[in-house]
Amino acid sequence: MTSIDQTNNFWVMNSMPKGANFAECFEIKQESSIEVPSGSILTKNHYLSMDAGTRMVMTDREDSYLPPTPIGEKLFGTVLGEVVHSNHPDFNVGEKLRSWGQWADYSVVDPNTMYPSKVDDSKTDLVDYVGILGANGWTAYVGVIETGRAKAGDTFVVSAAAGCTGLLVGQIAKIAGCKVIGIAGSDEKCKLICNEFGFDGAINYKSENVSAKLESLCPEGVNVYCDHVGGAITEAVFDNMALFGTVAVSGLLDYYGSSERSPGPKNYDLVLMKRLRIEGFFSPDFYRREHEFNPILRRWMDAGLIKLPIQPTKGLQNLVDAYSKLFDGRNIGKVVVEL
Ligand SMILES: NC(=O)c1ccc[n+]([C@@H]2O[C@H](COP(=O)([O-])OP(=O)(O)OC[C@H]3O[C@@H](n4cnc5c(N)ncnc54)[C@H](OP(=O)(O)O)[C@@H]3O)[C@@H](O)[C@H]2O)c1
Repeated sequence: MTSIDQTNNFWVMNSMPKGANFAECFEIKQESSIEVPSGSILTKNHYLSMDAGTRMVMTDREDSYLPPTPIGEKLFGTVLGEVVHSNHPDFNVGEKLRSWGQWADYSVVDPNTMYPSKVDDSKTDLVDYVGILGANGWTAYVGVIETGRAKAGDTFVVSAAAGCTGLLVGQIAKIAGCKVIGIAGSDEKCKLICNEFGFDGAINYKSENVSAKLESLCPEGVNVYCDHVGGAITEAVFDNMALFGTVAVSGLLDYYGSSERSPGPKNYDLVLMKRLRIEGFFSPDFYRREHEFNPILRRWMDAGLIKLPIQPTKGLQNLVDAYSKLFDGRNIGKVVVEL
């Protein structure tokens, strides 16, 4: 264990949020020294990645994909930083690193459990490593190509389509040769995904009847649905699935605020009637395949086939505002906190 004399501001969760009342539940605190255990690394963070999936660990659900964050503990997510102290032979001071880490100026990273990966920002903006070249890019790739098994000529639908993961999913489905329809929460987002990101159609789920609009946009039926939301939107897509269609379940935004299990879609019978395949997927299961995904994603990025707007919020103290965007829909593309 090494004790480093360094002021560190960090966020803790004092109570479990209900819905999106993060400002009431999170608190920023300060410590004057940082303990780095033997075998761990200390990074000075440049960016904190804001990811909607982290909301799942802010409930008391014990059966989630990760255990709940204990009350009073530092909040954490994916961070991008630079090694400033190393108690591990594989990591050196000065190296740039993406890893799981605390939402703080400095993160203590245990390489055994927090997925550190060295990144080269000589030819790419550092922030891309929590966008196209990070877990969102890999998730989108797996969602479309592997779990979704999308192929040319398929009709493909994605929800939360103007957010970080949804935008990448839609663009990769276009590369795969699909007709792509996005579901998003405003007319502005619907226009943007069609005009700037190549989607073939869009549905504003807040003002339109999703089932009816899908029927008119996709009379042939939906072959692949990449689900980020669950709930009524998923039921509307189920109504319009084609025979032998696939539902690739990436996220369930409609339920992230709840400590209860979600009720299944009320038209679950359609799984049988239409012989649907439904499969969930979770990025930590394929983090180790970064070296496989990133050359492909970089090639597409360099060729201008995929792009991702980055929405930075400056200052650790403004984290709650940045994080809230994911749940009230104020973001387009990737939300990060820049330190
Ligand atoms: N499986 C995995 O490993 C994995 C990895 C990364 C991300 N994901 C999933 O990808 C999804 C997006 O995550 P992200 O971090 O990229 O966030 P994001 O899409 O950048 O932001 C979330 C967006 O979702 C929309 N939204 C929020 N609550 C909603 C609701 N109840 N119903 C419908 N839309 C809602 C909002 O836009 P509008 O409402 O304005 O459309 C918001 O902008 C999440 O479900 C997340 O869990 C999964």
